[in-house]
Amino acid sequence: MSEKTIESILNEKRQFPPSETFSQQANITPTELEALKKHAEEDYQGYWAKLAQENLYWFKDFSTVLDDTNAPNYQWFTDGEINVSYNCLDLNAQKFPNKKAIIFEAENGETKTITYQELLDEVSKLSNGLLDLGVQALDRVVIYMPMVPEAVIAMQACARIGAVHSVVFGGFSSNALKDRIEDAAAKVVITADGAFRGGKIIPLKDSTDKALEGWETPVKNVVVFQRTGEPINMSNQRDIWWHDLTKDQDRESKALALNSEHPLFILYTSGSTGKPKGIQHSSGGYLLHAKTTFQWIFDIKDSDVFWCTADVGWITGHSYVAYGPLAAGATILIYEGAPTYPHPGRFWEICERHKVTLFYTAPTAIRALMKFGDNIPNQYDLSTLRLLGTVGEPINPEAWMWYHSVIGKEKCPIVDTWWQTETGAAMISPLPGVISTKPGSCTQSLPGIMMDIVDDRGNTVDQPNKGGYLVVTKPWPSMLRTIWGDNDRYIETYWAKFNNRLYVAGDSANQDEDEFFWIMGRIDDVLNVSGHRLGTMEVESALVSHPNVVEAAVVGKPHDIKGEGIFAFVVTKGERPTEDKEPKATKELRNWVAEQVGPIAKPDDIRYLENLPKTRSGKIMRRLLRAIARGEEITQDISTLEDEGIIKQLQGTD
Ligand code: WT7
Repeated sequence: MSEKTIESILNEKRQFPPSETFSQQANITPTELEALKKHAEEDYQGYWAKLAQENLYWFKDFSTVLDDTNAPNYQWFTDGEINVSYNCLDLNAQKFPNKKAIIFEAENGETKTITYQELLDEVSKLSNGLLDLGVQALDRVVIYMPMVPEAVIAMQACARIGAVHSVVFGGFSSNALKDRIEDAAAKVVITADGAFRGGKIIPLKDSTDKALEGWETPVKNVVVFQRTGEPINMSNQRDIWWHDLTKDQDRESKALALNSEHPLFILYTSGSTGKPKGIQHSSGGYLLHAKTTFQWIFDIKDSDVFWCTADVGWITGHSYVAYGPLAAGATILIYEGAPTYPHPGRFWEICERHKVTLFYTAPTAIRALMKFGDNIPNQYDLSTLRLLGTVGEPINPEAWMWYHSVIGKEKCPIVDTWWQTETGAAMISPLPGVISTKPGSCTQSLPGIMMDIVDDRGNTVDQPNKGGYLVVTKPWPSMLRTIWGDNDRYIETYWAKFNNRLYVAGDSANQDEDEFFWIMGRIDDVLNVSGHRLGTMEVESALVSHPNVVEAAVVGKPHDIKGEGIFAFVVTKGERPTEDKEPKATKELRNWVAEQVGPIAKPDDIRYLENLPKTRSGKIMRRLLRAIARGEEITQDISTLEDEGIIKQLQGTD
């Protein structure tokens, strides 16, 4: 980023204070929030120590809170001993053995529930099975599973015996799986015969076989959960059915006392360059922040049914499916299938059927569902919902307002949670009983989380609405510990820019007059048009506020006069206009953006698509869009594209 700060011209002024009814029953009140913030300001380590003592069960107490000897490789609660699975399962099974831990709905509509006692039993049996296979503490286990309770059971079983899991999203190809198995040097892979998704069967075991073919793999065993019953190959030496491995196992298993810094998991995430990075998380520090943020942000009560729609293949599915909610003794819902299968009201039908009270999803899902019109959700009884959440990307105010009015019936607070794979748990989010929300803003950092916006030199940007680098100014317990096998890259990527002093999130953001954070997008998504810095999200937000536009992605493109021009990829309602046939649509949209944002933000090019190119996790493939906008050859890996057929549309040849 140049010396010039980013100009935010997003002009969103609406505010939604929490309702009296919600505030009165909220887990965190204004007084409590004040007290927490004050404690963290005055005695940072004391603040975290107190939370860790109150919220976690330690086999052995810690005497060190924060160890910064090897900064920026920080360590937390270093000499404490803990077990994550013990905290999630044993403690809660003692308290309420018959409370529902998981409500599961399969794609075919079948449902089942699992109590805390049953979950503990299943996890123990699998832990014992893994021990029989020779899995030891620190061994890596890759989990490549459908979105079924057994995915969580597998994660918890690893945590119980100190094996380090690495969940690979079931939508990834065998190539991606191979890279991750290799990088993590996994000893065991846990998979299923297949997954049901969108009415199809995804052959997970076949992909696993392919991933393990033709090289000397570190994998000794593949454990196969039977989900579909389709015929698959089982190799005698290597492969074993989950049901065979667990059938004679004891329901008791010892949860190992592990050092707080013991790696709980590795989760791969894409960087802007190079191969995926294995983000390594700890045990005690990670669980602390996953649990407390869950309780505070989602306002969990004993009677709640919490549904986070994320797959366990992503960090959201780790922190707010597998760990945070279970540590808090909550009832979670897990849904196996696609959001719109077999009909576009499936999500809302599930909310009605299981009386979901807390619902957490991504803006991309909200926009996709919004596209089907209000009629669909209006057919269902959504009256049990009392809080809504979003995560993953900035939410445009239009989608926010739709979520607020059509889904939340104007009575549910919306928690827009900013965080990353690297941060382990939420960092910026409204506390729903205290903070007034503004559509499109993730509001304020959580108590104990110290965040700032700085310029190129690392100095705080004081002026409201001026953009800069989003940074974390103090280490926090759930931060990543390193990149697996590449500590230099860890330091280079997150710390080197400001002399190892600030954690660089890679996002640009600004703070408004109320010190609310507005995320403008990744640093590399920032445009400089005629010397004016523009967040791509702002142009996108303007485009999608047009009544005919459903989704939009904007990238920069070199421009002779302006430095950088704006190239917009747009999905419209109804028939897709083509550039030749419909110059009118383009003219109208350009003028619309000029009206919404200013003439500077007028897209130079608009290309119409049926869908935006997204990874299977729903992230827009911006690097691909940039390459196309520049007319460059496509060198990106497009194997994760949901629909490779859209390449022609992207290139403007269809
Ligand atoms: C990046 C991290 C955290 C789980 C899902 C994504 C973007 C995330 C928000 C939000 C605006 C957001 C950021 C961040 N992001 N949440 N509420 N508002 N942007 O995890 O794949 O590690 O991606 O997602 O750009 O850096 P991830």
